[in-house]
Amino acid sequence: MSRTNPPPKRRRRALFTAGVLAATALGTGGMMQGTASAADFACEVDYSANDWGSGFTADLSITNTGSTATTGWTLSYSYAGNQRLSQGWNGQWSQSGQTITVSDTGWNGAIAPNATVSTGANFTYSGTNAAPTGFSVNGIACGDDGGPGPGPGPDPEPPGDRVDNPYEGAGVYVNPDWAANARADGGAAIADEPTAVWLDRRAAITGGSAGNSTGLREHLDNALVQAQDHENFVFQVVVYNLPGRDCAALASNGELAADQIDVYKEEFIDPIADILGDPAYADLRIVTIIEIDSLPNLITNVSPRATSTPQCDEMLANGNYQEGVSYALSTLGAIPNVYNYVDAGHYGWIGWDDNFTASAELFHETATMNGASVDDVAGFIVNTANYGPSVEPYFSIDDSVGGTSVRQSEWVDWNRYVDNQSFALGFREELVSQGFNSEIGMLIDTSRNGWGGPDRPTGPGPMTDVDAYVEGSRVDGRFQTGNWCNQSGAGLGERPTASPVPNIDAYAWIKPPGESDGSSEEIPNDEGKGFDGMCDPAYEGNPRNNHNMSGALPDAPLSGHWFSAQFQELLANAYPPL
Ligand code: BGC
Repeated sequence: MSRTNPPPKRRRRALFTAGVLAATALGTGGMMQGTASAADFACEVDYSANDWGSGFTADLSITNTGSTATTGWTLSYSYAGNQRLSQGWNGQWSQSGQTITVSDTGWNGAIAPNATVSTGANFTYSGTNAAPTGFSVNGIACGDDGGPGPGPGPDPEPPGDRVDNPYEGAGVYVNPDWAANARADGGAAIADEPTAVWLDRRAAITGGSAGNSTGLREHLDNALVQAQDHENFVFQVVVYNLPGRDCAALASNGELAADQIDVYKEEFIDPIADILGDPAYADLRIVTIIEIDSLPNLITNVSPRATSTPQCDEMLANGNYQEGVSYALSTLGAIPNVYNYVDAGHYGWIGWDDNFTASAELFHETATMNGASVDDVAGFIVNTANYGPSVEPYFSIDDSVGGTSVRQSEWVDWNRYVDNQSFALGFREELVSQGFNSEIGMLIDTSRNGWGGPDRPTGPGPMTDVDAYVEGSRVDGRFQTGNWCNQSGAGLGERPTASPVPNIDAYAWIKPPGESDGSSEEIPNDEGKGFDGMCDPAYEGNPRNNHNMSGALPDAPLSGHWFSAQFQELLANAYPPL
């Protein structure tokens, strides 16, 4: 219960070597403007709006239907009512009267023939919200592709019987094992919050072993009982046992060796599918979180990058992450009441240009191989078991100090995003433009991204220079956004909530607060767990956190085991406060 060593002081970092994670620094965005002429450029614009009565999210995609690539674009259109722009993404948005103008950001300026770029924005309005009727790009009038979305008619229903957002109007399963731990350790105030059930090894399916007392069937039977008080009910389960699991870290290495893909399919996914597909559970909305920290590793942690590991190189070469994920998606996606959400890392990982589009492409490739299809994907989750805030309230990526963008600060280091919600919304657009259904929704794991307590800033930092501004503004108290293990100073984040903003299906507590991310020193075990220096408070880092201190709490047990000292800190630093 008691904490011994004081945590490392916040906000002090080891020497910073610029740009390892960020890779190449880029030129200023948005400087390239359209060079296409009417002779070689033609366009179609697809518009859709997700309207909640007093506001809406507009999603637009531009397809180059001409024969020549453009190197930059400016889209314009008009609204007939009093629609007011509040915030846009994947484009530079502005409004003059009823006319909306959106220019590329620099990094998304090129549109090859037949290629599509997407952008979006939130608006407020009152009265009626008619869809715009004409669009032009680089001054050329565009056609409408007749696809989903444009015009006032409703968008098509998602395939099968699934609802658009399973969390909407639904209760969510409270894991009694976690609730008992939380309650027994001073957490009565949150013990009734829903948390996910983790299937992190074959034995977890049947349960009955230490740390895994309740099996999947028993959890689902409990869920049926809890569901009696609700019209709709969500059961959240994490599917986490890929061969060669967690190739860039050691704390959550798993039981299956890199080549055991057949064991994964036959002894892990198939038995899970048998249980989830039982008609007894057909009325539950089963949300599956598919394989944390796997696919993005194949982009960011492989050769020739400085961040590569031999294990990730091996998993890229043998294809078993992609094969495993596609098998999980198609097998579980065949069950009509299963909603697969694929893990998409977090902003401090995928938010850099070098990682962003490449990850979305890899996700699409994986979701459409070995019989899987985009209809097997309900959405994506960001920040699973991580600590990045949903929203940095006191600064944004568009801020600058004395003409210097916050992107040039040490903390942001050329990332395109400063928090997970803006990343989730931007990445959603990218995923849709890669071919995922436009109905996909995003989840944010908010179990431990609260950053309250006495050290939390209460307003923006000083405008003396960009680093002082960002350091003074940021609520994230880590040394670096690549830090992930038992972070000192963290608090519980937003309580689980359905539809907090459009296109975010839910804030969910996927990592059960109080369960360790990894041991702070080597502990022999039979769970396949290794020891990762990132969980040792004295560790000075590696290329994946740009050689910063780990920021981990001391005396932590193995990943997944109850870590009381961390739980106490999460309660004390909860934001919103308890
Ligand atoms: C561990 C799993 C555990 C999960 C939830 C992961 O870090 O590797 O064994 O089930 O966290 O606490």
